[in-house]
Amino acid sequence: MLDLFRASLLVILLVSVEARTRRSIDLIAAHSLISDTRLPREVTPNFYDLQLEPRPNEGTFEGRVRINVTWQEPTDKITLHAHEDLDIFKIIVTQFAPDDETEKASSTPLPPTEVRVMRIERVPKKPLYIIHLEKTANRGTQCIVDLTFKGNISNDTSEGIFRSSYVDPETKNRKWFVATHLRPNLARKVFPCFDEPAYKVPFVITVARQKNMVALSNMPLKNSEQMKEKSDWVWDQFQQTPPISTFSVGIVVSEFSNTDYNTTDEDNNWNYEIRVWARPDFITALANVTDKIRKSVKILEEFWGCPYPLPKLDVLALPNYQATRPADNWGLLLFKESELSGRGSWHISQELTYQWLGSLATPFWWSDAHINNALVRYVTAYTTLKMETNESFNNWPMTMLYSIYYEFSKRYPHGKSTAIKQDSTSAKTELVFRMLNYTLGERTFKHGLQKFMADRQYKTFFGDDIWNALTEQAKFDNTLNESTVNAIAASWITKDRLPVVNVTRNYKEKSAKISQRVYLRERPHDVPDKEKFVWWIPVILIRQDSLNFSNTKPIVWMKKEKEITLENLPEANQFIIVNPEEIGPFPVNYDVQNWNMLAQFLCSENRAKIPVNTRAKLLHDAWNLAYAGDLSFATALNMTLFLKNEREYLAWDPVFTLIDHIGRHIDSSAVHKKFQTYVRLLLTPLYEELGEEPQEGESEGKAHLRSSSKVFLCQAGYKPCIEEAQAAFRKWMESENPDEGNPVSNQYICPVFKWGTSEEWEFGLQRVIKFPANRKQNERTYLLKTLAGCPNEAEKIERLLNITILEQNGNFTDNDIYLIFSMLTGSANGYTTLFNFLKKNWDTIKERFEGKLHLWNSLITSATTVFKTQEGLDMVSELYVERQTEFGTADFVIEKALKNIKEETKWSNDNLPVIEKWLDEYLANNSK
Ligand SMILES: *[C@@H]1O[C@H](CO)[C@@H](O)[C@H](O)[C@H]1NC(C)=O
Ligand SMILES: *[C@@H]1O[C@H](CO)[C@@H](O)[C@H](O)[C@H]1NC(C)=O
Ligand SMILES: *[C@@H]1O[C@H](CO)[C@@H](O)[C@H](O)[C@H]1NC(C)=O
Ligand SMILES: *[C@@H]1O[C@H](CO)[C@@H](O)[C@H](O)[C@H]1NC(C)=O
Ligand SMILES: *[C@@H]1O[C@H](CO)[C@@H](O)[C@H](O)[C@H]1NC(C)=O
Ligand SMILES: *[C@@H]1O[C@H](CO)[C@@H](O)[C@H](O)[C@H]1NC(C)=O
Repeated sequence: MLDLFRASLLVILLVSVEARTRRSIDLIAAHSLISDTRLPREVTPNFYDLQLEPRPNEGTFEGRVRINVTWQEPTDKITLHAHEDLDIFKIIVTQFAPDDETEKASSTPLPPTEVRVMRIERVPKKPLYIIHLEKTANRGTQCIVDLTFKGNISNDTSEGIFRSSYVDPETKNRKWFVATHLRPNLARKVFPCFDEPAYKVPFVITVARQKNMVALSNMPLKNSEQMKEKSDWVWDQFQQTPPISTFSVGIVVSEFSNTDYNTTDEDNNWNYEIRVWARPDFITALANVTDKIRKSVKILEEFWGCPYPLPKLDVLALPNYQATRPADNWGLLLFKESELSGRGSWHISQELTYQWLGSLATPFWWSDAHINNALVRYVTAYTTLKMETNESFNNWPMTMLYSIYYEFSKRYPHGKSTAIKQDSTSAKTELVFRMLNYTLGERTFKHGLQKFMADRQYKTFFGDDIWNALTEQAKFDNTLNESTVNAIAASWITKDRLPVVNVTRNYKEKSAKISQRVYLRERPHDVPDKEKFVWWIPVILIRQDSLNFSNTKPIVWMKKEKEITLENLPEANQFIIVNPEEIGPFPVNYDVQNWNMLAQFLCSENRAKIPVNTRAKLLHDAWNLAYAGDLSFATALNMTLFLKNEREYLAWDPVFTLIDHIGRHIDSSAVHKKFQTYVRLLLTPLYEELGEEPQEGESEGKAHLRSSSKVFLCQAGYKPCIEEAQAAFRKWMESENPDEGNPVSNQYICPVFKWGTSEEWEFGLQRVIKFPANRKQNERTYLLKTLAGCPNEAEKIERLLNITILEQNGNFTDNDIYLIFSMLTGSANGYTTLFNFLKKNWDTIKERFEGKLHLWNSLITSATTVFKTQEGLDMVSELYVERQTEFGTADFVIEKALKNIKEETKWSNDNLPVIEKWLDEYLANNSK
C-alpha cells in the first residue's frame, strides 16, 4: 500500500474533543434508541488516515486505518469501536511523541518507537475493541494506532458499507456499485474507530477502484496513483476533510454518469462544485436537480449566514436504495432514485440542511440528535416554502399538527411505542421552533440561529446551545423580556402533553379570563397529577375591529400561570381570536357568545379576511373540544355552516376527520342515519362543483379535495358513487378467470361490500378463499379487511365468522382471524355482530381457542370493549354475569371494558340528544 504519511499531509489542526459536560433540557433518556456505553475518554483520536479497498464484484473489502491518538489520562489500553464482523488482523502501535512530563524534561525529539501490544480484548455482545499495551503511558503521549482489517460488503441492506447492482441496458451486463451509510453509529462496521459523534477530527481518505469506475468521497479528489499489485486498479486519494464525526464519512465507487455542470457561472459566485450522479439511463430524469440544489443551498446559506462549508457536493440517485432515509454523508448525499427525480424539493432540502446542522455543527450525543432533527425539519420547511411557488407544500404544518393533537390528548400517549413517541416528540419540537419564529420574530430567530452556527461550526453542541443563542438574541433585540427561551422550550418539550386554553370574556368589562390546563380528548380524563401541568403560553390576540394577522407577537405570555386576565378587549359585538394560524400547538376554547360571533362571521362574505389556516383552526378546535366534552356540539356544529361557501382545501381538511371520528362514535345510534344525510348534504355540492374528473393543471389541493370528498360521500351512501363502484365490480364478477387478478380499484371495494348485494360480498369472500399463492398477499389482506370491516349487514359478518371459526375453513390462518376481529371494532355493526356470535356459540368457540389464548383475548377485546351506549353496557354486563368464571385470561379485559363503556355511555347520553336536535334543524333547513 501507499505510504500516506507524507509531510504535506500532516499539517493538521489538532482538534481535541472539548470537555463539555452540560446537559440539555432532558429530552434524553426517553428518546435515545441508542444505548451505547460511552467510550472511556483516556485516549482520544485527533486524526484518521483511512484506506479502503472495496471489491464490488466479490462483495468483500479490505482496509487500513491509522489513527493518531493522544493520552488524556494515564492508561495501558486503547478502547475503540469495531463491529464483531470486522476482522482486524494486524495491529501496530507506534509512539511518536512523549508524555507531558518527559517532553518538559528533554529537548530532543522522540524517535518513533513501537509499543508492544500484549493482547486484544473483544467484549462479548458489545462492539468494543480493546488494545492492551505492555505499559501504562502518561498524559500527553501520542501514538499512531495502525490497524489492518477486512470484512463483507452488505448485500441486502443499505447500511454500513453496502453494494447493489443494475443492468446496463446496452451491454446487458450487471454493474455493481458500493456505497456507505454510516448513520447513526455504523462506522464501526467499516473500520475500527472512536464511533461517537463528539470525536470530530480530520480524515484523509483513500479509496481503491478499478480503472473503469469512479470513486467519490466527502472531499474532492487530490490525486490518483496506479496500484502496485493490480494493473487495472488505482488508489484515489481525497483532500483532507475538516473535522468530522465518523458517521459523516462517506464513499461511493460506481460507474455512474453525472450531469453536465457549468463551472463558469460567475454571476452567482458559486464557490463549490455540484455534481449529480445516477446510472447512465436514469440521468436524464435528474435534469432539474442541480437547479433545485443550487436554489436550496442559496436559501440555506442565507438562513445560516454561512456559506456551504465544503468545496464540493456530490448528489447520487442509487438504484435499489433500501434505507428509509437518504444518507447525508458530508458532501456526498445518497437518495433513492424516486426521491431525487420527484417533483418537490423537500427531500433535497432536508438532506442539505443536515450539511450544516449535523455535519458542520454536530449534536454531542445521539440524544441531542432529537433536537437537531426537529430543527432540521423546521429549516427544511422554511426552505421548501421559500422555494416552491405552487401550493403543493402549504399544508405544512397542519397535517402533522392535527396528528400530534390527537396523540398527546390520548389517555396514554404513544401506547408503548418508542417509534411513535420519537416521532411525535420530534414533531412537537419542530412546532416549538415554529412558535419561537413567530413569537420572537423571524429576524431574532434567524440571527439567534446564525450566532449559534457561527459559534458551534466544526464542533459539537447540546440542545441548550440552541436555546441559549436564541435567548441572547431575544434579549439583545428586546423581543423577550419575560423569560428565557430555555424555560419556554422546556415547558413544551419535557412533557408528553399539550395544553388547551380557555378564553371566557366578560363583555361588560371588556376583559377576559384566560386559563390553561392539560388537553385531554379521549375519555376518561383521569390523568394523574393533571393539575400540575403548566406551560409558557404566548397569548396572540386578533380582534374583529382590526383583523391584523401580520402581528404575531404575543400581547402577553402566560408564565406557567393557571389563569390571567386580559383587559381592553373590543366591544361586545366583536369577536376575538387567540392563537391564530396555530402559532402555538394548542387548541383554544371560548365562551359560547364568542364562538357564535365567529360562526356568523365565517358565514359572511368577509370570511376571507380570516386566513385559511385560522379558519381551519377554528373549525378543528370546535369539533375536537366538543368531542372532548368541553364544548356543546350545537356550538361546534355551527362552525361547519360556513363550509357551504368554502372551497379551499385547507379549510375542509379538518372536516374529513370530523366525519370519521364523530361518525364512528355515533354509529350505533339512530342518530347515525341523520348524520350520514348531513354528510351527503355537506359534500354533494362540493363534489359536484369539483367535477368527477381531474382537470388539467389543477392544484394538488383540489385533487385531494375531490378524492377525499368522494371517499366520504361513498361511505355515507351517495348513490352515484355506489353505482359507479358496483359497475366496476361487475366487470370482475363477469371476468372469465377472476382469481388471476383484481381489476377493481381499491377505492371501490369498501363501498360495494358496504352498500352492495350479498352476491357481491360473497364473490369477494370466494376470491379470498381461492386466492392463488403466487399473487401478492397484500391484495388478499386488503380484501379480507374490507370484507370484515365494511358491511352494514350482520348476515355478511356472521357468514364470515361461521366459515372461519365454526367451520374452520383451512384457507384462513390465525392471523387472518386476528385481523378480522380487529376490523370488526371499526363499526357498531361489526362489534355487535361479533358479540352476539360469541354469546351464541360460547362453548364451541372456547373449545376452538383452547391453547390459542392470544386469539381468545383478542376476541373478547374486540367483542366487548368498544360499545358506547347503555344498551351495549347492559349486553356486556349480562354476559359478564352469565359467564363470570369462564373468561380466563381475558378477565381483566372485560373489567376494563365495562369501565370504558360506562364512560362512553355517559358521553352518548350527554351528546347524542344535542347532536340529534342540531341535525334535525339542519336537515329541515337544507333538504330539498
Ligand atoms: C500524526 O502522526 C504523525 C506521526 O507519524 C505526526 O507527525 C502528526 O503530527 C500527527 N498528526 C496529528 C494531527 O496529531
Ligand atoms: C451476497 O450475495 C452473493 C451472491 O448473490 C452471495 O454469494 C454472498 O454470500 C452474499 N454475501 C453476503 C454478505 O450476504
Ligand atoms: C454557463 O454560465 C455562464 C454564466 O452564467 C453562461 O454565460 C453560459 O452560457 C453557461 N454555459 C452553458 C453551457 O450553459
Ligand atoms: C425540468 O423543468 C422543466 C421546466 O420547469 C420541465 O418542463 C421538465 O419537465 C423538468 N424535467 C424533469 C426531468 O423533471
Ligand atoms: C416565521 O415568522 C414570520 C413572522 O415573524 C412569518 O412571516 C414566517 O412565515 C414564519 N416562517 C415560518 C417558516 O413559519
Ligand atoms: C372556561 O372558563 C370558564 C370561566 O373560568 C369556566 O366557567 C368554564 O367551565 C371553562 N370551560 C372549560 C371547558 O373548562
